[in-house]
Order: sequence, then C-alpha cells, then structure tokens
Amino acid sequence: MGDDFLSKGFLDVPIDLSLDLFQEINKLKKEKNAVILAHYYQEADIQDIADFIGDSLALSQQAAKTNADIIVFAGVHFMAETAKILCPDKKVLLPDLNAGCSLADSCPADKFAEFKSKHPDHLVISYINCSAEIKALTDIICTSSNAEKIVESLPKDQKIIFAPDKNLGAYIRKKTRRDMVLWDGSCMVHEIFSLEKIIKLKNQHPDAKVIAHPECEAAVLEVADYIGSTSGLLTYASKSGAKKFIVATETGILHQMQKNCPDKLFIPAPPNNSCACNDCPHMKLNTLEKLYNCLKFEQPEINLSDDLILRAKKPIIKMLVLSAQFGL
Ligand code: 13P
Ligand code: SF4
Repeated sequence: MGDDFLSKGFLDVPIDLSLDLFQEINKLKKEKNAVILAHYYQEADIQDIADFIGDSLALSQQAAKTNADIIVFAGVHFMAETAKILCPDKKVLLPDLNAGCSLADSCPADKFAEFKSKHPDHLVISYINCSAEIKALTDIICTSSNAEKIVESLPKDQKIIFAPDKNLGAYIRKKTRRDMVLWDGSCMVHEIFSLEKIIKLKNQHPDAKVIAHPECEAAVLEVADYIGSTSGLLTYASKSGAKKFIVATETGILHQMQKNCPDKLFIPAPPNNSCACNDCPHMKLNTLEKLYNCLKFEQPEINLSDDLILRAKKPIIKMLVLSAQFGL
C-alpha cells in the first residue's frame, strides 16, 4: 500500500460494504498474530472487538507483556508510542495517526527542557499523556491510577516537577502536600465540564454519586464523591450501592459502565456549552473501518528512533516496576 493512501494520516481505502467487519477483523487478528488494545474512550464497536480494554496503566502493562507480533493500538498517539517504546521489535499500528491529545500537545519538548533547566534540583514526574520526547526528559512516568503512590514513594523533601497536566498535578499536590511545580497543561475534554450544571443535575438527582477523573478542574473535583482513573471510576461504579452516577470524564467510558451494571443509570456530566464536547475528538477519530484497513494493510505504523526509544523507556520502566511493587 503506497504512501499516497496514507496522506490523510489513515488508510483511506474503500471497504466492501457487504463485509462483516467484526468477523474480518477477528480473522485478520488470528492470521497475523495481532492484538487489539483499546482505551475506554474508544467508540463502543472498537471496545467490543478489542482483546483488551483498559486505562493507560493497564494498557502499557499489556503492551509490555504481549506475545503478539502486531499491536493495534486503538487509542491516541502517545499511547501507541508508549507501546512502541516498550516493544521496539513489534509492529505497532494506530488506526488514525491524527489521533493526538490536547494535553500532550500542551507540552512542547523545547519549552519543557527550558522549564526543567530552571529547576535543576527537581525530579521530573510526567503523566503518560505526553510525547516520547517529554518522556525522554522525565525521571518517572505516572498515570492517573498510580500518580499519588509514585509521588508518595519519593523522599519527603524531594522537589518535584509535575507535567503536563496541571489539574492532576494540583490534585496530587493537595493530597500528598509535596513540593511540586506544575507544568501549565490540560485536557480539552476534562476542562469542559460546567460546575453549575453538575450542581443543578445533582439537585435533580440527589441520590446520584458524582464521579470524576482527576484531569478535571479543582472546582469539579471538590463536588465529586469519588475521584479516580477510568478503571477506578468503573470499579467504583460497579461496587457502589448507588444506582445513579453523574460521570465527569469522556463519554466512551459509559459503554463499559452500562455493560457492567445494566441496572444502574449513568449520566454524562454536562459541558459548559451545548455541544457534545466531552467526547474526545482525538479518541473518536479511530473507527472500526480504519481499524480494519490498518490491520489488513499494516499501516499506519508508529516508528521512533532507537535513541529516543532508549531514553524514553527508562522512566516508563520505572513506573512499571513501582506499580508492580504497589500491587497495581
Ligand atoms: P486513564 O485511562 O489512565 O484514566 O487516562 C484518561 C485519559 O485521559 C486518557 O487519555
Ligand atoms: Fe488527551 Fe484528553 Fe483526549 Fe485523553 S481525553 S486523549 S487527555 S485530549
């Protein structure tokens, strides 16, 4: 398949409409010894065809241990990059190369290197939602499910730079009371929620629990009954005795919540405008059709230089080792 087909960042190849894509994808997966890893924010069909669905930590753990020859990463670019860094000898595919991340984009490597040089006695902890170049400038990577434990594992007087998410950073700083300077980045999806509308909704449903991802702004986290990673939110919703939840994170998660708990009601937290902005436009670029073409033609592929892989791998491995020690 020539590069011209990839000019849009995905394989724009017409698909025979009579094909059962679920069947075809499963067939290709077996033939090629491929595994599909999907994030909870992917569209429902992609979650249903995936071999493994998870949060960022679980997906990186799966990537690190897979025996597959090909990893199709149904998520965004930094996630597929992380898989490539962990498995440089495997072919890592991303259905649409345009699937970026506003949070990762908010932290350009040159600006971050400058920021880092101003705090020479600080240790750098970066949220996994960043580019491979930022990972290479980092001491330890974290995700929303292990950030607090990773920070707590450091000596009490250790000064920390936390990048790139200022909301997660502020939340962890408040919980751990550590000396942390924050990079001023954020996620466009988690900053869109309206506190006023959430409170109004909560008044209409006083029996509902408000559950929120720590990428949300502090004011939203203040009113949350539970704060956690996507996996944390799912587990809380399953185990809680409550029957109604107002969910302040990307709407893709509602698919698994509803599947796990068909008798419970999950209400997406309202955004501060009238559009469906709590859908991540990057995550939702992947479609079943793009995933099929990607697996069939083995493109678009993630490629990184050996040198970058070597430098970006160390802080990810540190995270995986610490997470195993924490029993995560
Ligand atoms: P987690 O699934 O690790 O909670 O991350 C959420 C997210 O924003 C991914 O882009
Ligand atoms: Fe990035 Fe936010 Fe989309 Fe996650 S939800 S991929 S952090 S823009």
